[in-house]
Amino acid sequence: PSANRATLPDDEFLVIAHRGASAYAPGHTLAAYELAQRMGTDYIELDLHLTKDGKLVALHNTVVNLRDKEHLVANINFDELQLYFPGNEFNKNNPEYALPEFERLPVVDFETILDHFGDTVNYYIEIKSPKSYPGIEKKVVRQLRKHDLIGRDDLLPKVIIQSFGETSLRKIFAMEPSIPLIKLYAFDKIASLSKKERQQLVQYAAGVGVNAKTVTNAFVETMHQEGLHVHPYTVNNEKMMRTLKELGVNGLFTDKPDLAIRVKKNK
Ligand code: G3P
Ligand code: CA
Repeated sequence: PSANRATLPDDEFLVIAHRGASAYAPGHTLAAYELAQRMGTDYIELDLHLTKDGKLVALHNTVVNLRDKEHLVANINFDELQLYFPGNEFNKNNPEYALPEFERLPVVDFETILDHFGDTVNYYIEIKSPKSYPGIEKKVVRQLRKHDLIGRDDLLPKVIIQSFGETSLRKIFAMEPSIPLIKLYAFDKIASLSKKERQQLVQYAAGVGVNAKTVTNAFVETMHQEGLHVHPYTVNNEKMMRTLKELGVNGLFTDKPDLAIRVKKNK
């Protein structure tokens, strides 16, 4: 018989700092993750990719612009990726939060992040574009084991893994069934999953991550009846956060963890 899926605590509303506190610092940099940690977030969210030379890196896009040319992360080595500075774009797009020191922040690799934070934060890891990165799941699990982040008995699991790819999540499940898994969806208008899809989900997933605007109370209740949690992405408006909390969602992804923490605490 296959192992049981890992679940998440029912009585917790999770504040998931999307790319770190990415409204206030360049997403997926140590600065953004550190700020989220200082704010008291429950999880830092990171998207993982694999470079040509096999390094796991935290980044949003599968493509980066280097010397005025677009490059797939999968086609460049980690050293070359160090010539890309995510803070430049952040400073340009966010003048109110721009800082000179953001300009030279590098793209960080997963191991550096785990070395840096150890078990002082919880990680909500996305396996991005798994089809472009064969073997990425094994590498992620290897790092998590090396840093002793799996199979622990913490109030909140140290690690949650999310992906749009069901195959990728099932690979993780086969290796480490104790990691709670979140299947991501991008619905068109209204979030909805058939009975068959729900039955498949409960074989391995703890819940779903869905675009916030599509979430209804009926969807949340249907998911809860199956013991599946719902985490909407990405919510930066405080009123919307309160509305979603009232709909019964189990947490949310936000670029502004400070606001979500206020909502969580009912302040
Ligand atoms: O992982 C949930 C949400 O982050 C998906 O959006 O920002 O990774 O494209 P993103
Ligand atoms: Ca993500």
